[in-house]
Amino acid sequence: MKKSPTAKTPQPNRTVSIIGTGSYVPERILTNADLEAIVDTDDQWIMDRTGIRERRIAKEGEFTSHLAAAAAKRAMENAGVTVDEIDLILVATITPDTFFPSTACHVQRLIGAKNAACFDVNAACSGFLYSVEIAQQFIANHTYSTVLVIGADKLSSIVNWQDRNTCVLFGDGAGAAVLRNREGSHGVITTYMGSDGNFGDILHMPGGGCAVPITRDNADQKLNTLHMNGRETFKQAVTSMMKAAQKALEQSGLTTDDLKCIIPHQANIRIIEAMASRLNVPMSKFHINLDRYGNTSAAAVAIALDEANRTGRFQVGDYILLVVFGGGLTYASSVVQW
Ligand code: UT7
Repeated sequence: MKKSPTAKTPQPNRTVSIIGTGSYVPERILTNADLEAIVDTDDQWIMDRTGIRERRIAKEGEFTSHLAAAAAKRAMENAGVTVDEIDLILVATITPDTFFPSTACHVQRLIGAKNAACFDVNAACSGFLYSVEIAQQFIANHTYSTVLVIGADKLSSIVNWQDRNTCVLFGDGAGAAVLRNREGSHGVITTYMGSDGNFGDILHMPGGGCAVPITRDNADQKLNTLHMNGRETFKQAVTSMMKAAQKALEQSGLTTDDLKCIIPHQANIRIIEAMASRLNVPMSKFHINLDRYGNTSAAAVAIALDEANRTGRFQVGDYILLVVFGGGLTYASSVVQW
């Protein structure tokens, strides 16, 4: 059969690399000592049970899109690409500026990325790696060339500042990466993603959506803040991140010995210690910054990736493993050859 002259000839999948990273955290530091004045807690408990020393809090009028745009500019600079080259913006967030437009559209306006399509990804703390996988697929199949992937959250806007079980854990920030095909480079080798909606209510925000709108009658119940069953979430975090890490290693044919660095979700030092012990790798292989930023949700692994990149924790050709867990429940893991 004769081909239509307009039909596209299928092209082989392209490899996809992370060609630049960036991050941004707000200036204001909230220490454990500061929290002692807000809720019944103390520095010793927070350090012992979580490893968190301080976190960053966005100022009034500084929204998720502002954090995201600042990280995006640094990632584009690091990658050496201009804003006009960006043809897709993905923002992973659970604290969008508005339900709609998407935060990705707000970022587009702020950075002037006039050639980009934009949308948000909601996979809670796993959102950055979910977005890396979406970008990877779009670039590999030639739909888009240069994708800006951002993980950004202003969790201080949905934290219940009277609940000591949660308010000590979280912070605000954003991390970004530019993904593109780069000849002769392996880039993102594999990503594994998983979810289990049966565990949705161990970590969630019950109100504010169409199921439970915030009304005059329920406004005092703090339904539009984050609710968490800490112990169950801890258990699921370790199990899911182990599963994701092992699946991604299996899919890529690598072992932990091949890895230069592991970049985990930054929720609790004890979760990372449990993983290190089960994977039988030293803690020194993990890049950890939760002591300085707490848990910044979708931003956490992206900020850690940028820090590790800029501080030379890995070089071109090294294998790294990124692994995350979040509300949903969701989890994901990527093996990347830098
Ligand atoms: O982004 C992904 C999601 N997040 C996570 O992965 C978080 C996972 N969970 C955790 O990190 C831990 O479960 C927490 C840090 C949240 C809690 O640590 P824990 O060792 O599981 O403590 P717990 O919830 O079992 O509470 C132990 C005690 C309780 O007191 P009682 O009932 O034993 O008298 C709590 O009320 O610690 C108390 N407590 C606190 N004490 C001082 C809880 N929060 C605080 C606090 N300061 N901030």
